[in-house]
Amino acid sequence: MPPAHKPRGEVTRGTTAPNRLRRIDRWIAATQAVPLRSDPRPLAVDLGYGASPITTVELYTRLRPVSPGLEIVGIEIEPARVAAGHAFLASLNVAAGGPGASAGRPYEGLSFRRGGFELPVPRPPVLVRAFNVLRQYEEPAAWRAWDDLRARLAPSGVLVEGTCDEIGRRAVWVTLTKDGPQTITFAAHLGSLERPSVLAERLPKTLIHRNLPGEPVHALLTAFDRCWAMAAPHSAFGPRARWVEAVSLLARTHPVLTRPPYGGRNRWRLGEVTLPWTAVAPRRR
Ligand SMILES: C[S@@+](CC[C@H](N)C(=O)[O-])C[C@H]1O[C@@H](n2cnc3c(N)ncnc32)[C@H](O)[C@@H]1O
Repeated sequence: MPPAHKPRGEVTRGTTAPNRLRRIDRWIAATQAVPLRSDPRPLAVDLGYGASPITTVELYTRLRPVSPGLEIVGIEIEPARVAAGHAFLASLNVAAGGPGASAGRPYEGLSFRRGGFELPVPRPPVLVRAFNVLRQYEEPAAWRAWDDLRARLAPSGVLVEGTCDEIGRRAVWVTLTKDGPQTITFAAHLGSLERPSVLAERLPKTLIHRNLPGEPVHALLTAFDRCWAMAAPHSAFGPRARWVEAVSLLARTHPVLTRPPYGGRNRWRLGEVTLPWTAVAPRRR
C-alpha cells in the first residue's frame, strides 16, 4: 500500500551485505534488553535497510531471543527495496521453517514497508536501528534526523545510529533516547586494526567533520592511539589483550564506561569500547 504522504528523507545508495551489522546487533542484544522489554507489545524499526532485507532479517533473528514478542519493521524510502522485503516474506517456505520459525508462520512479526524519518508504524518503537543511512546526508540534516527520530521513540526507547565499513569490521554508533544522545561506541575487528584512530573514518555524520584539533572527539582518538602504543607489549598475548590494556589506560583520562552492560573486560575483548556522549560532543552543534 503506498504511503499517504511522501516519505521524509532521500533515496541514497542501497549497499548492504549479510552479517555487516553483526557487531551492532550483538551489542544491542547485550546492552539494550531493558528498552527491548519495556513495552508489552514491543516494536523495533530497522530504518534504511538497503537493497536487500538481509540485515533486517538478521536483526529479527538476533533480537527475538532477547525480546520474544518483538515486532520488527524494516522501513525503506526506495520502493524497489520495499518490494524486495515483501518478496523475501512471500518466498518463505512455511514447511521448511528456518531460524525465525516460530509456532505460527516463520518470521512472525517481521514486516517491511515504505517510509522515511516520519516512521510509519502503528506505535512508538522501543528501538530504531539506522545504520549507514545518515552518512549520505549533509551534517545539518543528520542532526535534524536525530531530533526527529528520537522524538518518535517509545518513552524508554532507544535510537542506535551509526556507520560501518562494507563488511562490518569497523563501526561507530551513538545511542539516543528521547532526552538526547547518550553513548558512543567504537568497535573493530582487532586482528586487522592498525590503530584506534582509523575508526575516525566511520564516525557518524554528526561527528565526522569534528575530528579536528580542539574538538573532544579528536582529543579522544589521539589519546586512544597513545594508549594503543603504550599497550604494544600486550600484543604478545594477541590483539584482544592489547585492546583491553589500551582501553584500561584510556579509562584513566576519559570517562570510559567500565561496568556491565556497556563496559568491562568481556565487552572490551570483543573489540568494543563505550563512552558517554559527553566525551565526544562537539563544542558547538
Ligand atoms: C547504505 S544503505 C544501508 C543498508 C543497511 N542499513 C546496512 O547498513 O547495510 C542506506 C539505505 O537507507 C535508505 N534511506 C536513506 N534515507 C532514508 C530515510 N529517510 N528513510 C528510509 N530509508 C532511507 C536508502 O534508500 C538506502 O537504501
